[in-house]
Amino acid sequence: MNEQALSVREAIRTRRSIKNFNGQPVDQENIEEILEDAVWAPNHGNRNPWRFIVAAGKQYSEFLDVLREYGVPKWNELSAEDLEKQMKKFTNAGAVAMVIVPEDARQKERLEDFAAASTCIQNIQLLAWDKGIGTCWKTPAFLDNPKFREDLGVQPGERIISMLQFGYYDEIPKARPRKPLEEIVTYYGSNSEEE
Ligand SMILES: Cc1cc2nc3c(=O)[nH]c(=O)nc-3n(C[C@H](O)[C@H](O)[C@H](O)COP(=O)(O)O)c2cc1C
Repeated sequence: MNEQALSVREAIRTRRSIKNFNGQPVDQENIEEILEDAVWAPNHGNRNPWRFIVAAGKQYSEFLDVLREYGVPKWNELSAEDLEKQMKKFTNAGAVAMVIVPEDARQKERLEDFAAASTCIQNIQLLAWDKGIGTCWKTPAFLDNPKFREDLGVQPGERIISMLQFGYYDEIPKARPRKPLEEIVTYYGSNSEEE
C-alpha cells in the first residue's frame, strides 16, 4: 500500500475541484490504484453499486473523439481553431472515469446506491488529491443522451452519475467558503438552551 502523504483531515480540507488541468496525461495505473482503495466506500447490502469506464493514456485521446461529438455544440460547423478552444475543457484533463450506478426499481435501494457511489467518488477525489492528481466531478447533460450511453455500452437500468475528470494542475483554485456551523447545526435537547 502507498505511503499516505496527507492526513484524512488535510485531504478533506485542502482538496479542490480542478477545472483547469495542465494537459499532462494521467496513467491508467494511477487510476487503478485509486479505484482499488476507493471501492472500500460504505454501501448497503454490499451491493457494490458502481462500475467505471476508464479512459487514460492513448484511450483518453480516443475518448476525446466521443467527447467532441457530444460535448461541443455544433462541433462539425466550427473552425478547427474554435473547435480546439471549445475542446480545451476536455483535452486539458489527463484521464476520465465515467461512474455508472444501477438504477434499482425500488426507490430506497436506488437512493442508497446513489449515495454509496457518491461516497466512493469522494474517496476517489481524496485519494487522487493525495497523489497530486486533481479531479472534477462533472455532470454535463450529455451523460443522459441515449446515443452517448449507447456508444459507451451503458445498459438500460444503469445511469452515468459522473464524468470524473483526472489531471495535473499548475494552480489550486481558491476555496469557496462553507456555511459556518452556527447556520447549519442545531443541537437537539436541553444542552442547546441558554443557562
Ligand atoms: C454532484 C456534483 C456535480 C457536479 N457537476 C459539476 C459540473 O457539471 N461542472 C463543474 O464544473 N463542476 C461540477 N461539480 C463540482 C463543483 O462545482 C465543485 O465541487 C464546487 O465548485 C466546490 O468546489 P470544491 O470541490 O473545490 O470545494 C459537481 C460537483 C458535484 C458534487
